[in-house]
Amino acid sequence: MANDERYTELLEAQTHLWSQICNLINSASLKCAVELGIPDVIHSHGKPMTLPELVSALPINPSKAHYIYRLMRTLVHSGFFVQQKEGTNEQENGGYLLTRVSRLLLKDEPLNARAFLLAVVDPIMRKPWYFLSDWFKNDDPTAFETAHGRSFWDYLAQEPRLGNFFDEAMASDSCLITNVLINECKEVFEGLTSLVDVGGGTGTVGRAIAKTFPHLKCTVFDLPHVIADLQGTENLDFVGGDMFEAIPPANAILLKWILHNWTEEECVKILKRCKEAIPSKDGGKVIIIDMIMEKVKADDESVEAQLSSDMTMMVLFRAQERSEKEWEKLFLAAGFSHYKITSALGLRSIIEVYP
Ligand SMILES: C[S@@+](CC[C@H](N)C(=O)[O-])C[C@H]1O[C@@H](n2cnc3c(N)ncnc32)[C@H](O)[C@@H]1O
Repeated sequence: MANDERYTELLEAQTHLWSQICNLINSASLKCAVELGIPDVIHSHGKPMTLPELVSALPINPSKAHYIYRLMRTLVHSGFFVQQKEGTNEQENGGYLLTRVSRLLLKDEPLNARAFLLAVVDPIMRKPWYFLSDWFKNDDPTAFETAHGRSFWDYLAQEPRLGNFFDEAMASDSCLITNVLINECKEVFEGLTSLVDVGGGTGTVGRAIAKTFPHLKCTVFDLPHVIADLQGTENLDFVGGDMFEAIPPANAILLKWILHNWTEEECVKILKRCKEAIPSKDGGKVIIIDMIMEKVKADDESVEAQLSSDMTMMVLFRAQERSEKEWEKLFLAAGFSHYKITSALGLRSIIEVYP
C-alpha cells in the first residue's frame, strides 16, 4: 500500500475512533439543554428563536452567554433542534426550532420522555460503566454492584431520591407506550375480566387500562415500598408482594419491561408464578412488552438502541435483551405452549403467551 493511501486509512480510522469515543457528549449536552429549559423556551417563543433571543431567555451567567451557540450547534447536528439557514455566518443564521425529538422533552408534552432521559444520564447510572472491566475480572454479580456496593434494586429501596427518580422514569415511558397500546392494540385486552400488572410500578399502565376498560378488574402488583400510599379506584387496586413468591390470580398477567431485568433462570421462575396465577384455558395469557432483538427496522439507529439497551441490562442486572429463539426457550421451560408476537411498539413488541 502506498504511503498516502495508508495515511488516508489511518486518518479515517482516527475520525471513526473520535466520533465513537465522544458519544457521551451528545447525551450530556442534551441533559444540559433540558436542565436549562432550552426546548421549553424555544417552544414558548412560538416562532423560530434567534441565538440572542435564546441566550437572553436562559437562566445562565452572562459570562457564559457566548458558549450557548456551541451547545446548540452540536444539538442541531445530532437532530435535537434545527436552525433556519439565512446569514452567511453560521452564528448569524436564522432561528432555532424544535424537532420531533426535542418535542418529546417538553414539560407541557403529556407523553414526554424527560424523566427517562434524566434518569438514564444520572451520574449514579453512569458510574457502573466506568467499572465494566473491573467487573469482568471480579466475581460481583453486576457492574452496578462493583460501582455502588449493592444491587440496583437494593439501591432503589434504600435511596428514595433514586427510587422516586426511577419510578418517574418508568412512568414517563409507560405514558407513551400505554397510549399506543390502548388506542392501537385494543384487541389484546378483549374478553379479559381481570388483569394483574406485575412490576407495574406506580400504576401508570394499570390506571390507563382500568380507565379504558371499566369492566376489567385491574391490579398493580409491585414491591411493597413502591406501591405504599397509592390509592386505587373502583376497578383498580394496588397489591404489594414479591413476584418470585406468588402473583395474585387473574385472566391475564402483564409484564411490561420486567423480564429483560432478569437472568434466564429468574425469568423462568417469574413465568412459572404467572402460569400458576392464570386459568389454564379459557382466555388465560401472559402479555409481555419487551424487546425482541433483531425484530426492528434494520436501520443503524434501531440496532444501536437495541444493542445499548442489551448492554445496559448486562451492566445493571446481568440480564439481557432477547432474540425470538431465546424468548421461546423461556416460555417452553416455564410450561407455556405457544405465543403470538405483535410488533407495534417501536423498538419493543407485544408477546402474548398461552398455557
Ligand atoms: C423496569 S421497572 C418496570 C415498571 C413498569 N412495568 C413499567 O414498565 O413502567 C421494573 C419494576 O419491577 C419491580 N420489581 C422488582 N423486583 C420485584 C419483585 N421481586 N416483585 C415485584 N415487583 C418487582 C420494580 O419495583 C419496578 O417497578
